[in-house]
This record gives sequence, C-alpha cells and structure tokens, in this order.
Amino acid sequence: MGTSSSARRNRFPLILLATVATGLGVYLFTLFFAARLSEGPHTSFLKIPAVALWALLAYFTVRLVNAALFDFAFRIRRGYEAPTLVRNIFTLVIFTVLFVLIFKWFYSEINLGALFTTSAIFGVIIGLALQDTLGNFFSGISLQADRPFQIGDVIVVSQQKHTGVVEGITWRAIKIRTFQNHIVLVSNSNAAKEAIEVAPRDNLNARLIFFSTVYTDSPAKTIHVVREAVRDADNVSEKITPIVRIRNLGESSIEWEIKYWLEDYAKYNDTDALVRQRTWYALRRNGLTFAFPTRTLHLERKVTARPTTAEDEIADRLSAVDVFAPLSTDELRQLAMATVGHVFAPGETLIRAGDEGSSMFVVHNGRVQVQLTESGKSRPVAVLSEGNFFGEMALFTGEPRTASVVALEETEVLEIGHAAMKHLFETNPSLVESISWTIAERRAGLAASAEQATPNSLAESAGLLTSIKRFFGLR
Ligand code: CMP
Repeated sequence: MGTSSSARRNRFPLILLATVATGLGVYLFTLFFAARLSEGPHTSFLKIPAVALWALLAYFTVRLVNAALFDFAFRIRRGYEAPTLVRNIFTLVIFTVLFVLIFKWFYSEINLGALFTTSAIFGVIIGLALQDTLGNFFSGISLQADRPFQIGDVIVVSQQKHTGVVEGITWRAIKIRTFQNHIVLVSNSNAAKEAIEVAPRDNLNARLIFFSTVYTDSPAKTIHVVREAVRDADNVSEKITPIVRIRNLGESSIEWEIKYWLEDYAKYNDTDALVRQRTWYALRRNGLTFAFPTRTLHLERKVTARPTTAEDEIADRLSAVDVFAPLSTDELRQLAMATVGHVFAPGETLIRAGDEGSSMFVVHNGRVQVQLTESGKSRPVAVLSEGNFFGEMALFTGEPRTASVVALEETEVLEIGHAAMKHLFETNPSLVESISWTIAERRAGLAASAEQATPNSLAESAGLLTSIKRFFGLR
C-alpha cells in the first residue's frame, strides 16, 4: 500500500510534463491551422487530429487534477488513501463531459444525445453484455458509500473461505491479501451478497484460544498462571487484561478458553501461536497438566477422606496449630486421620453466619476472611491463614455460627468433627482450656467489631470452659 502511494507520487511530475507537452501541442496546432480549421473543405479532415489533441489534453488535465486532489489533498485531510473506485469514477465522468464538450465544439452539427438514445437495440445489447460489470460497478459504489471496511482492515468473506488484509477496492472487486500472501479478488456483487466479518485496523479485536487441563488441576491456579503468561506476550494489548475462563467441564478434561485482545489483528496467526506457546511453558513450570483426549477410569473407593493431602503432611500442619501444641505425635496422627480435606475457590463461603455447625476447620493452604453481616453489608473482622483455625465456637458451644467465613484465595481446609475433638478432650483436659481462651478472645473481637460492650475475657473464658465441658459431657 505504501509503495503504491509513493509510486503514484513519483508519477505526478510525468503527468504534469505530459499535460504541458500536450498543451503546447494543442497551442502550436491551433496556431498553424487556425485559419484552415475555420474554412474550406479540408476542415473536417483537420478536425480529427484537433479533437484527438484536445481530448488528449483533457485526459492529462483530468489525471493531473485527480492526482492533485486524491494523492495530496484527500490524503492530508482524511488521513487515508482515496479509494481507487472513487478516483476512477471521477476520471471517467469528468473526462466524458470534457470529451462531449470538445466534440460538440468541433462537430456542432452532430447530435450525440440522439445517437445514444435512439438506438434501443444498442442499449439492450450493451445492457446484457455489461450485466455483471454493471452489477459489480454499482455494488462497488454502494461499498464505497457504506464504507464497511477500509484498506488495511482484516476481513473474512465467503464463510471463512477468504481471510486477509484488504488491499484495495476497485470498480470490479475487493482485493484481499491472504495470510499465505496470495491475492484473492472477491467481486463486488458477490461481496454485497455475503456476510463479511470485519476486524477494523484501529479497533481492539479479540481472539479466542482453547486448551484443556486435567480435573485434578486447580482452576484458580490455572487462571492466574495462564493469564500472567499471556498478558505480556508480544502484540497482546495491554489495554485489556486477557481473560482465562472455563468454557466446559468436558468428559475427561476441564476445557478452557483464553480471550485476548490484539494490537495488530493482521498478525493474529503469530500471536495465537505465541499465546499457545506461553501457555504450554506456564503450565509446565507450575506443575499443571494438559489433558489428553483420553478416558480415565477412576475406581470409586468407599470413603475418600482426603483427596489432596497425605496424612503426615496433615499431622505436620496440625502440630503447627497453637491450641494443638499439647498433643502427642500419636494423637496428632489420629487427629490427622480423622480430618477431611476440602478445597474452596476464591470468593466461596465456607461458613455462613447463623447456620448450625458441628465441626471446626484448620486452614491448610490459602487465606480466609471472617466477616460479620450488618444491615446487608459484610464487614471484615479478621483474616486467617495457614495454621489458623475457625468454626470452633459453634462446635464447642453448640450455638449457631457467629460469623461468615469466605475464601480470599484458593484455600484448602481440614475439617475436624465433634467426635474427634471429644476424644482429644478426654485425654487432654488442658486443650479445653486453651480453646476456651481463643473463643473468649474472638468473642471480644466480634463484640468490638459490632461496637458492643467488650465482655470481660477472663470471666467469659471461665464460663465457656464450664459450658464446653457440659456440651461434650466431660467432667
Ligand atoms: P463459629 O461461630 O463456629 O463460625 C464462625 C467462625 O469465625 C467462628 O466460629 C470463629 O472461628 C471465627 N471467628 C469469629 N470471630 C472471630 C474473630 N474475631 N477473629 C477470628 N476468628 C473469628
């Protein structure tokens, strides 16, 4: 496109020279034959070269005006190249008018209009012969008027058959350069009938890329990892963050789509490939796995107490929980065996205030937020992370849940039920005491947060101790 416009500009002096030369020719011709032209029998013979010379002058003048108007004025004012079709129509119309005027000037006795209008057969023949051409011509005009796309836009025509960058629109066809560097000409009348998909050059156009992962991979982690890998790839627009989302829970895999926006849509093949490549490396680095189109048979076991973590690891985690400090290694192992692991997505609610509850939870991975709900609005009370526990209040007192707990990120928790705790209390009386302290402190925190009077923690804890013992049937 750039080369063709500079080539046009280079032609400008040539046209100028031709115009001046023809003008000079006309001048000299008129000078020499002026007297002869207006008299005598040779006149009509001499008129032929005169008409030809004038017509030539008219042609070059029109070309000159065309070049001046469209190559310079139009480009500067509008910022883009004038369509070839408009230029051609301009040349054709002005030249025809000038030619008719010249002809009439020399042959005033011949009626040109009558020549065309009286010949009906001539009209029919021309009409039939030019049916397609005229169809293309008028479709071309409507395309120009409508301006659904411009030179440099990527378009898809004929139901995905032709995709490429628009190089030009002539009176006959749209010229597309495909991504195999071929030229495809779609006739204007065909283009007018087809649905055309346009990706304008100055628009942020998006692409979708698909991939699948195995079911054991965490969705939250996959989203984070892939999004970060894609967002700084070349030609991926920084204006909109790419979106990574689950499009289907397939038979044997989680099916994903990446939606990203491009700076230059014409390079989408390369960018798609780069995005896929980045995804591959990112998944590999982060221990995530592409799903093969295979069928995996899972034999169902009766109780899968813990899908994601091993017992030792859990015992380790429990030993780091402050209230479980007095427990022996054996007791910790037993407790570990009695826990059930659950994974929650960011934003999911683990516990809802007011619900009944008969278990407590230890945060194994991730973070949760404890929230109070007041007049429809949630207010954060505390953030708990790995090694912290929650849900003990309802478990130990039998009262409804005092607050809601929501995952701030992907979070794995270990659930400990009533029976497991009762067993521990019987062998570790000091455990009841330390837990009742925590409960008393948290109650104080809740009260402060709800702007209630802070109760006396010591008295509170003593009261709690008794009620927990009573609730668990301990002496
Ligand atoms: P439970 O009442 O069973 O359910 C909500 C849980 O939120 C509660 O037990 C506590 O574990 C936890 N919680 C309530 N208040 C606080 C607080 N101030 N700080 C930390 N955790 C709290």
